[in-house]
Formats: sequence, C-alpha cells, structure tokens
Amino acid sequence: MDHKNELVERILALKAERDAIILAHNYQIPEIQDLADITGDSLQLARQASSIDRAVIVFCGVDFMAESAALLNPDKTVLIPSLQACCPMAAMATAEQVRDKRREYPRAAVCSYVNTSAAVKAVSDICCTSSNGVAVVRSLSEQQVLFVPDKNLGHYVSTQTDQEVILWPGYCYVHERLSLAEVKAARREYPQAVLMVHPECRPEVVAEAEVVLSTAGMLRYAAESDADSFIVGTEAGLLHPLRRENPDKHFYLAAPHMICGAMKQVTLDNLLAALQHNQHVVTVPKDVAVAARRALERMLEVT
Ligand code: 13P
Ligand code: SF4
Repeated sequence: MDHKNELVERILALKAERDAIILAHNYQIPEIQDLADITGDSLQLARQASSIDRAVIVFCGVDFMAESAALLNPDKTVLIPSLQACCPMAAMATAEQVRDKRREYPRAAVCSYVNTSAAVKAVSDICCTSSNGVAVVRSLSEQQVLFVPDKNLGHYVSTQTDQEVILWPGYCYVHERLSLAEVKAARREYPQAVLMVHPECRPEVVAEAEVVLSTAGMLRYAAESDADSFIVGTEAGLLHPLRRENPDKHFYLAAPHMICGAMKQVTLDNLLAALQHNQHVVTVPKDVAVAARRALERMLEVT
C-alpha cells in the first residue's frame, strides 16, 4: 500500500473508532474532498453542522467555518486539523469596529458574512453566505444594511436589492486579484465557455460574467447546463468536484493564481494527527457564543 492509501485507511479507521464525521469545503485539496463524509459550500456545511449526531466533527476548511460548526454544536468536539487555516478576510473586521460602525448607522441592520469571527457574528443581527446573501438582506425589514466584511459580495447584494447597503472595506485576496483583463483573456482563449464567477470577485468581473454563484451553485449550474465548457472564477479547489461530477465537460480556471493558502493548510497528515491527538479543539468563548449562534440560526431560518 502506498503512503497516501495508508494514511486514508488509518484516517477512516480512527474516524469510526472516535465516532467522528469529516466535513470538507469545496476548496480543500482533492484527497481531503474524496474522503470527507460531506463536502459543500459554506451554507451547506453550516446547515449540515447544525444536525450532526456524531461525537466529533473534524472540519476541513478554515477557522470561521470550524467556529460556526462549534457554535451550532455546543455539545460536540469540533476539531480543525491546522491552526494555520485562517481566512484573511475574516480578520478584516473586529467586533469593536463593527460596534463603532453601528453607532454611525443606528437604523441599519448588520449582516455579517459567515467569513467573520464569532465575536463579529455576536454583534451582528444576522449572518449570510455567498449563496444566500441576497435572500438574507431582502428578508430584513430595515432599509439600510451594514454589510460586513466583503465589499465585493456586499456590492453584488446591493445590485439585487432595493435596500441601501453600506459596504465594509474587506475582501478576499484570492477573488479580488482576478482582474477584468484576465477574465477577458480567458474568454479569448475559450470563446465557447460560460463564465461563472463567485460574488467575492470585483464588480467589473461580476458584471462580465454569465452567472454569479457560490461554489455549490457553480456545481449545480455546471451539471444542469447544456454548455460543455466553463471558465471558473473561483478558487482552484472547485475544479476537482466540477471535473469529477462532469467528466465530459471542460473547466478552465479564470487565472492560475486563484489558490487560497489557508484552505490548502489541511493535509492527510494533519487530518490523521487531528483524530489521533484530538487536536485542535475549536471553542467559542461563552460570552459571545449565544449572540453569535443567534445570528447564524437566524440565517438558517431564512433560507
Ligand atoms: P462558498 O463555498 O460558500 O461559495 O464560499 C467561498 C469562500 O470563499 C469560503 O471561504
Ligand atoms: Fe478566505 Fe478567500 Fe480563502 Fe475563502 S478563498 S477562505 S474568503 S481567503
């Protein structure tokens, strides 16, 4: 047995022994996606995490996702295999900054993208993901919405609602870096391909695309579409399930640099170590957990 297969066997055996479940985001490396019990986008994973009946959840993704799983499962052990798996966008808003902004806009509802810390969720009225941002904002009765922290997703939401959306200056470096020139170059190279982009991309890139979708939305769209080739404007990890689920279709990454360093921190080695040594346990301070859970649960009730 080669090293990789041996690792997979040991992970699966320990998973059963520890009554664990493995959740993986669509940007994880192929080996992790292939052995996970559940893969998905942020919304699917949060939803799944709210109804898990195992003792241990191993979250193969980034910090804020594992934290959300811990919030939704206060009685379970939630593990993240790498402490380096930290989303830089989630660090672009602190609870103190959001509280200050709330004072500036007292009539605004605060909608925080799930890519935030539990402390930021705790000072928000509701959370959203890339797949339900529009529905969540539309569900609010307030005419003014402070959208934290992704300015690009916030801008996209603002084009789909009548409410005034106040933007925060945060962004995802992976998607922000994708330029209109790169997208146009990809179009020239693959003129028949449908351009699908993630709403974390810049407004001018979003405006150029045929479809704007979360990662799970892209998987659904590609499977249902009559088109047979697609330019993919999101993180490279999504190419794996796109190609696996649509072996006769062609998928081209919009630009070669679209790789999230945080998402690639989880490996078979540290996943095995997580199960062996019960590391790294994700906990949320009690003083923020109740309010943060409320914002997440309110989102889950909307969609
Ligand atoms: P989704 O999978 O929810 O579209 O999220 C993308 C992302 O960047 C998560 O960090
Ligand atoms: Fe954060 Fe962007 Fe990586 Fe998602 S792709 S985890 S938003 S840095």
